[in-house]
Amino acid sequence: MRKRLIAGNWKMNGRQADIAVILDIGQGLSTSMEGKVETVICPPATLLATCRDALEGFTLALGAQDCHAAEKGAYTGDLSAAMLCEAGASYIILGHSERRAVYHESDELVRRKSEAALAAGAIPIICIGETLSEREAGDTLLIVERQLAGSVPASPDPQNLVIAYEPVWAIGTGLTPTIKQIAEVHRAVRRQLVARFGDAGEHVRILYGGSMKPDNAAEILGVPDVDGGLIGGASLNADSFLAIAHATPGV
Ligand code: PGA
Repeated sequence: MRKRLIAGNWKMNGRQADIAVILDIGQGLSTSMEGKVETVICPPATLLATCRDALEGFTLALGAQDCHAAEKGAYTGDLSAAMLCEAGASYIILGHSERRAVYHESDELVRRKSEAALAAGAIPIICIGETLSEREAGDTLLIVERQLAGSVPASPDPQNLVIAYEPVWAIGTGLTPTIKQIAEVHRAVRRQLVARFGDAGEHVRILYGGSMKPDNAAEILGVPDVDGGLIGGASLNADSFLAIAHATPGV
């Protein structure tokens, strides 16, 4: 049984004053969710330690948005997975399409970063997804399967691995794929995970991300093999993040 996961990706948004939003989210998570859905907010790294202290006693977990592949060293400006864990992160988003596009992160780099996250004790949330032109060319499954094959570590603990399918053209645009399109990709991802890891592949959680909002969350979260969501814009507001979390089936 896969425990649902609703994760908020704050990207480069959020300063000290916005910690109040994270506290509101922590306070708003109802007891009906306990045991049924995990929730995590991934704020900028600068807020992690303060949030960790402020959230003591809450079930809301924290995550980071990227890490370096190395344990430590001469990498000016970068942060290691262990540093982020020490600051309060238990998840690390890796290979987000913005990093793949802007910083040219390859599948191989994403895989090495994922290994670093696992070694430090964090759960990587590995993002994959096609661009609009790739979808229009009919290459969606090809792209997603290639990213998955190259980005996922060779022998992860499936309980400690999360995949996020995020069509690039749906991120921050208000556009979402049809339910049929989401189901098709999630089914293909699950098939590939099972082919690679056997039964363990059934335990890997696969999130959908890209313009998930309170008004489409219940339908998307009801799709087979959609085990949760990676929420960008709508996670910046406590009410909308909580509404999405409460839309999780069975909550
Ligand atoms: P969005 O972002 O919900 O604002 O589309 C999702 C993401 O980039 O993870």
